[in-house]
Amino acid sequence: MGPHAASRPLTLSEQADELEEKMMNELNDKIATKSALFSMADGNLDYVGGAELQARNPGKYFLMGADPRLPKMPEKPTLIDFFKHRFVSMNHLLQSAALALKAGHDEKVVLACLLHDVAVAGFIRCDHGYWGAQLIEPYVDEEVSWAVRVHQALRFFPDESIGYKYPDMYVKYFGPDYQPEPYIVEEYKRARSHKYYMTARLICVNDIYAFDPDAKVNLDDFVDIIGRNFKQPKEGLGFDNTPSSHMWRTLMWPTRFL
Ligand SMILES: [Fe+2]
Ligand SMILES: [Fe+2]
Repeated sequence: MGPHAASRPLTLSEQADELEEKMMNELNDKIATKSALFSMADGNLDYVGGAELQARNPGKYFLMGADPRLPKMPEKPTLIDFFKHRFVSMNHLLQSAALALKAGHDEKVVLACLLHDVAVAGFIRCDHGYWGAQLIEPYVDEEVSWAVRVHQALRFFPDESIGYKYPDMYVKYFGPDYQPEPYIVEEYKRARSHKYYMTARLICVNDIYAFDPDAKVNLDDFVDIIGRNFKQPKEGLGFDNTPSSHMWRTLMWPTRFL
């Protein structure tokens, strides 16, 4: 029997204390902190400074490494490790890549499809094409990262030549009157005449929106393509001193104090 087995229900503050205690135990007595962006996602700009946070948790230090509530990452993480331990949804990426593979597209296109929504799966949704491209840029052919960046804009514009229509899903998600912002329109215009236009367009064509419960997809099917087309750093993603290493580290340690 727990400490509250007595008849009376817990007060709100007791519930909060219990939750906090449980979290602390899971955290090995460290204080995990939320970045400003995480709080904004809950609609608030509250800021609690380090001194106050620590005063509320006497005798505790701040978490400065791995968050024990999240799956453990190996010392030298690979892209596959991030897929397995950090990306919250893989199915959409795997199904899109499987479709591209089945259609006979080359490996760069398949990889672009596999990684096109990597930011949605593991990082930040807003401007996901740009974040995703930035994450992978040091490790893939420029054709792949370019395509990932602009697929976000291209999704909003049809291309009859390849049978791509404005997605019904977008009407459902954003309403029939939604118009993309000017920066997206500009991105689209620039992309139209770019040498890698068709690669980005093929991401859109293979972008699956309806989840197919019968589709048999497995990350193992793409391990070789990743091996040939994603330059896995020997130090591990995050420890290789590229312009996006810090982003991989943040993904690995999202609640570090600094
Ligand atoms: Fe996308
Ligand atoms: Fe997608």
